[in-house]
Amino acid sequence: MTPNESISACSLRHRRAVRVIESFLLLMLAISIPLVVPIAARAEGAPNPLCAGCHMEDGNSVTPDFPKIAGLDAAYISKQIMDFKKFKRVSEIMGPMATQISDSEIDALAMYYSKQKRTPGVVTDKNLAEQGQLIYTDGIVNSAVPACSGCHGEKGEGTDKFPRLAGQHTAYLNTQMSNFKNIVRNNDARGVMRAITLRMTDQEMKAASEYIASLKGE
Ligand code: HEC
Ligand code: HEC
Repeated sequence: MTPNESISACSLRHRRAVRVIESFLLLMLAISIPLVVPIAARAEGAPNPLCAGCHMEDGNSVTPDFPKIAGLDAAYISKQIMDFKKFKRVSEIMGPMATQISDSEIDALAMYYSKQKRTPGVVTDKNLAEQGQLIYTDGIVNSAVPACSGCHGEKGEGTDKFPRLAGQHTAYLNTQMSNFKNIVRNNDARGVMRAITLRMTDQEMKAASEYIASLKGE
């Protein structure tokens, strides 16, 4: 090997080494991008992009089967996500979703969605909504169903323990009520919602949902 040849062999090796390092760095960058995005988003209090796919960026889902989560109390949101995570509230969709969220991110997400303003709901049957108003504000005396307003608030505004119902999708409300009735959902403290829905007919639950959709929460 002449000195010149050894220099060029050396620089070839050097260039190869640089290329290896470069591709390694690119690989690291490619791997870290998906991890970095949610972390950066969390720092600003913006929602995890994962959630927006179904609940929308501001928590006002436009799909009747996906609940609006905007304006729910932060403590209620945290409890539900923890319940999904521990499979105390069983959902094929939310269970796997919740297991991807760390406990510290849950509170940040809950805070974010609790601060979003809920959009108005859609009433499709005015007569049914009128029947629902009686149930919501007075309960059903004959079957010992208490007034919904006693816990969820006159305007459906809710508290940390009793979820905001105002403006929620009727399809979601109906599903949740029959889930309580059939004990598919059983994460309600002391079984209050299970006891209440057990005494309600499907028609009464639908009527209550129609009225709830008309509530503004304020
Ligand atoms: C693929 C659609 C989908 C995605 C993505 C999704 N959700 Fe959900 N979410 C649902 C459905 C469906 C339900 C109702 C589950 C049930 O049947 O009980 C729900 C329920 C909830 C509830 C309970 C609402 C209530 O009123 O009790 C919260 C809170 C929630 N999701 C938060 C989140 C968060 C935070 C994320 C992101 C990490 C997320 N969801 C991602 C579909 C989705
Ligand atoms: C004694 C208090 C109480 C009364 C009265 C009550 N609820 Fe509830 N309701 C609850 C609690 C507590 C939960 C949430 C349980 C949990 O932590 O997941 C709930 C949850 C719900 C949910 C699920 C909301 C969501 O976002 O997933 C619906 C729908 C609902 N109630 C409808 C009604 C209707 C309709 C009435 C009247 C017929 C009513 N409730 C009366 C305590 C009450």
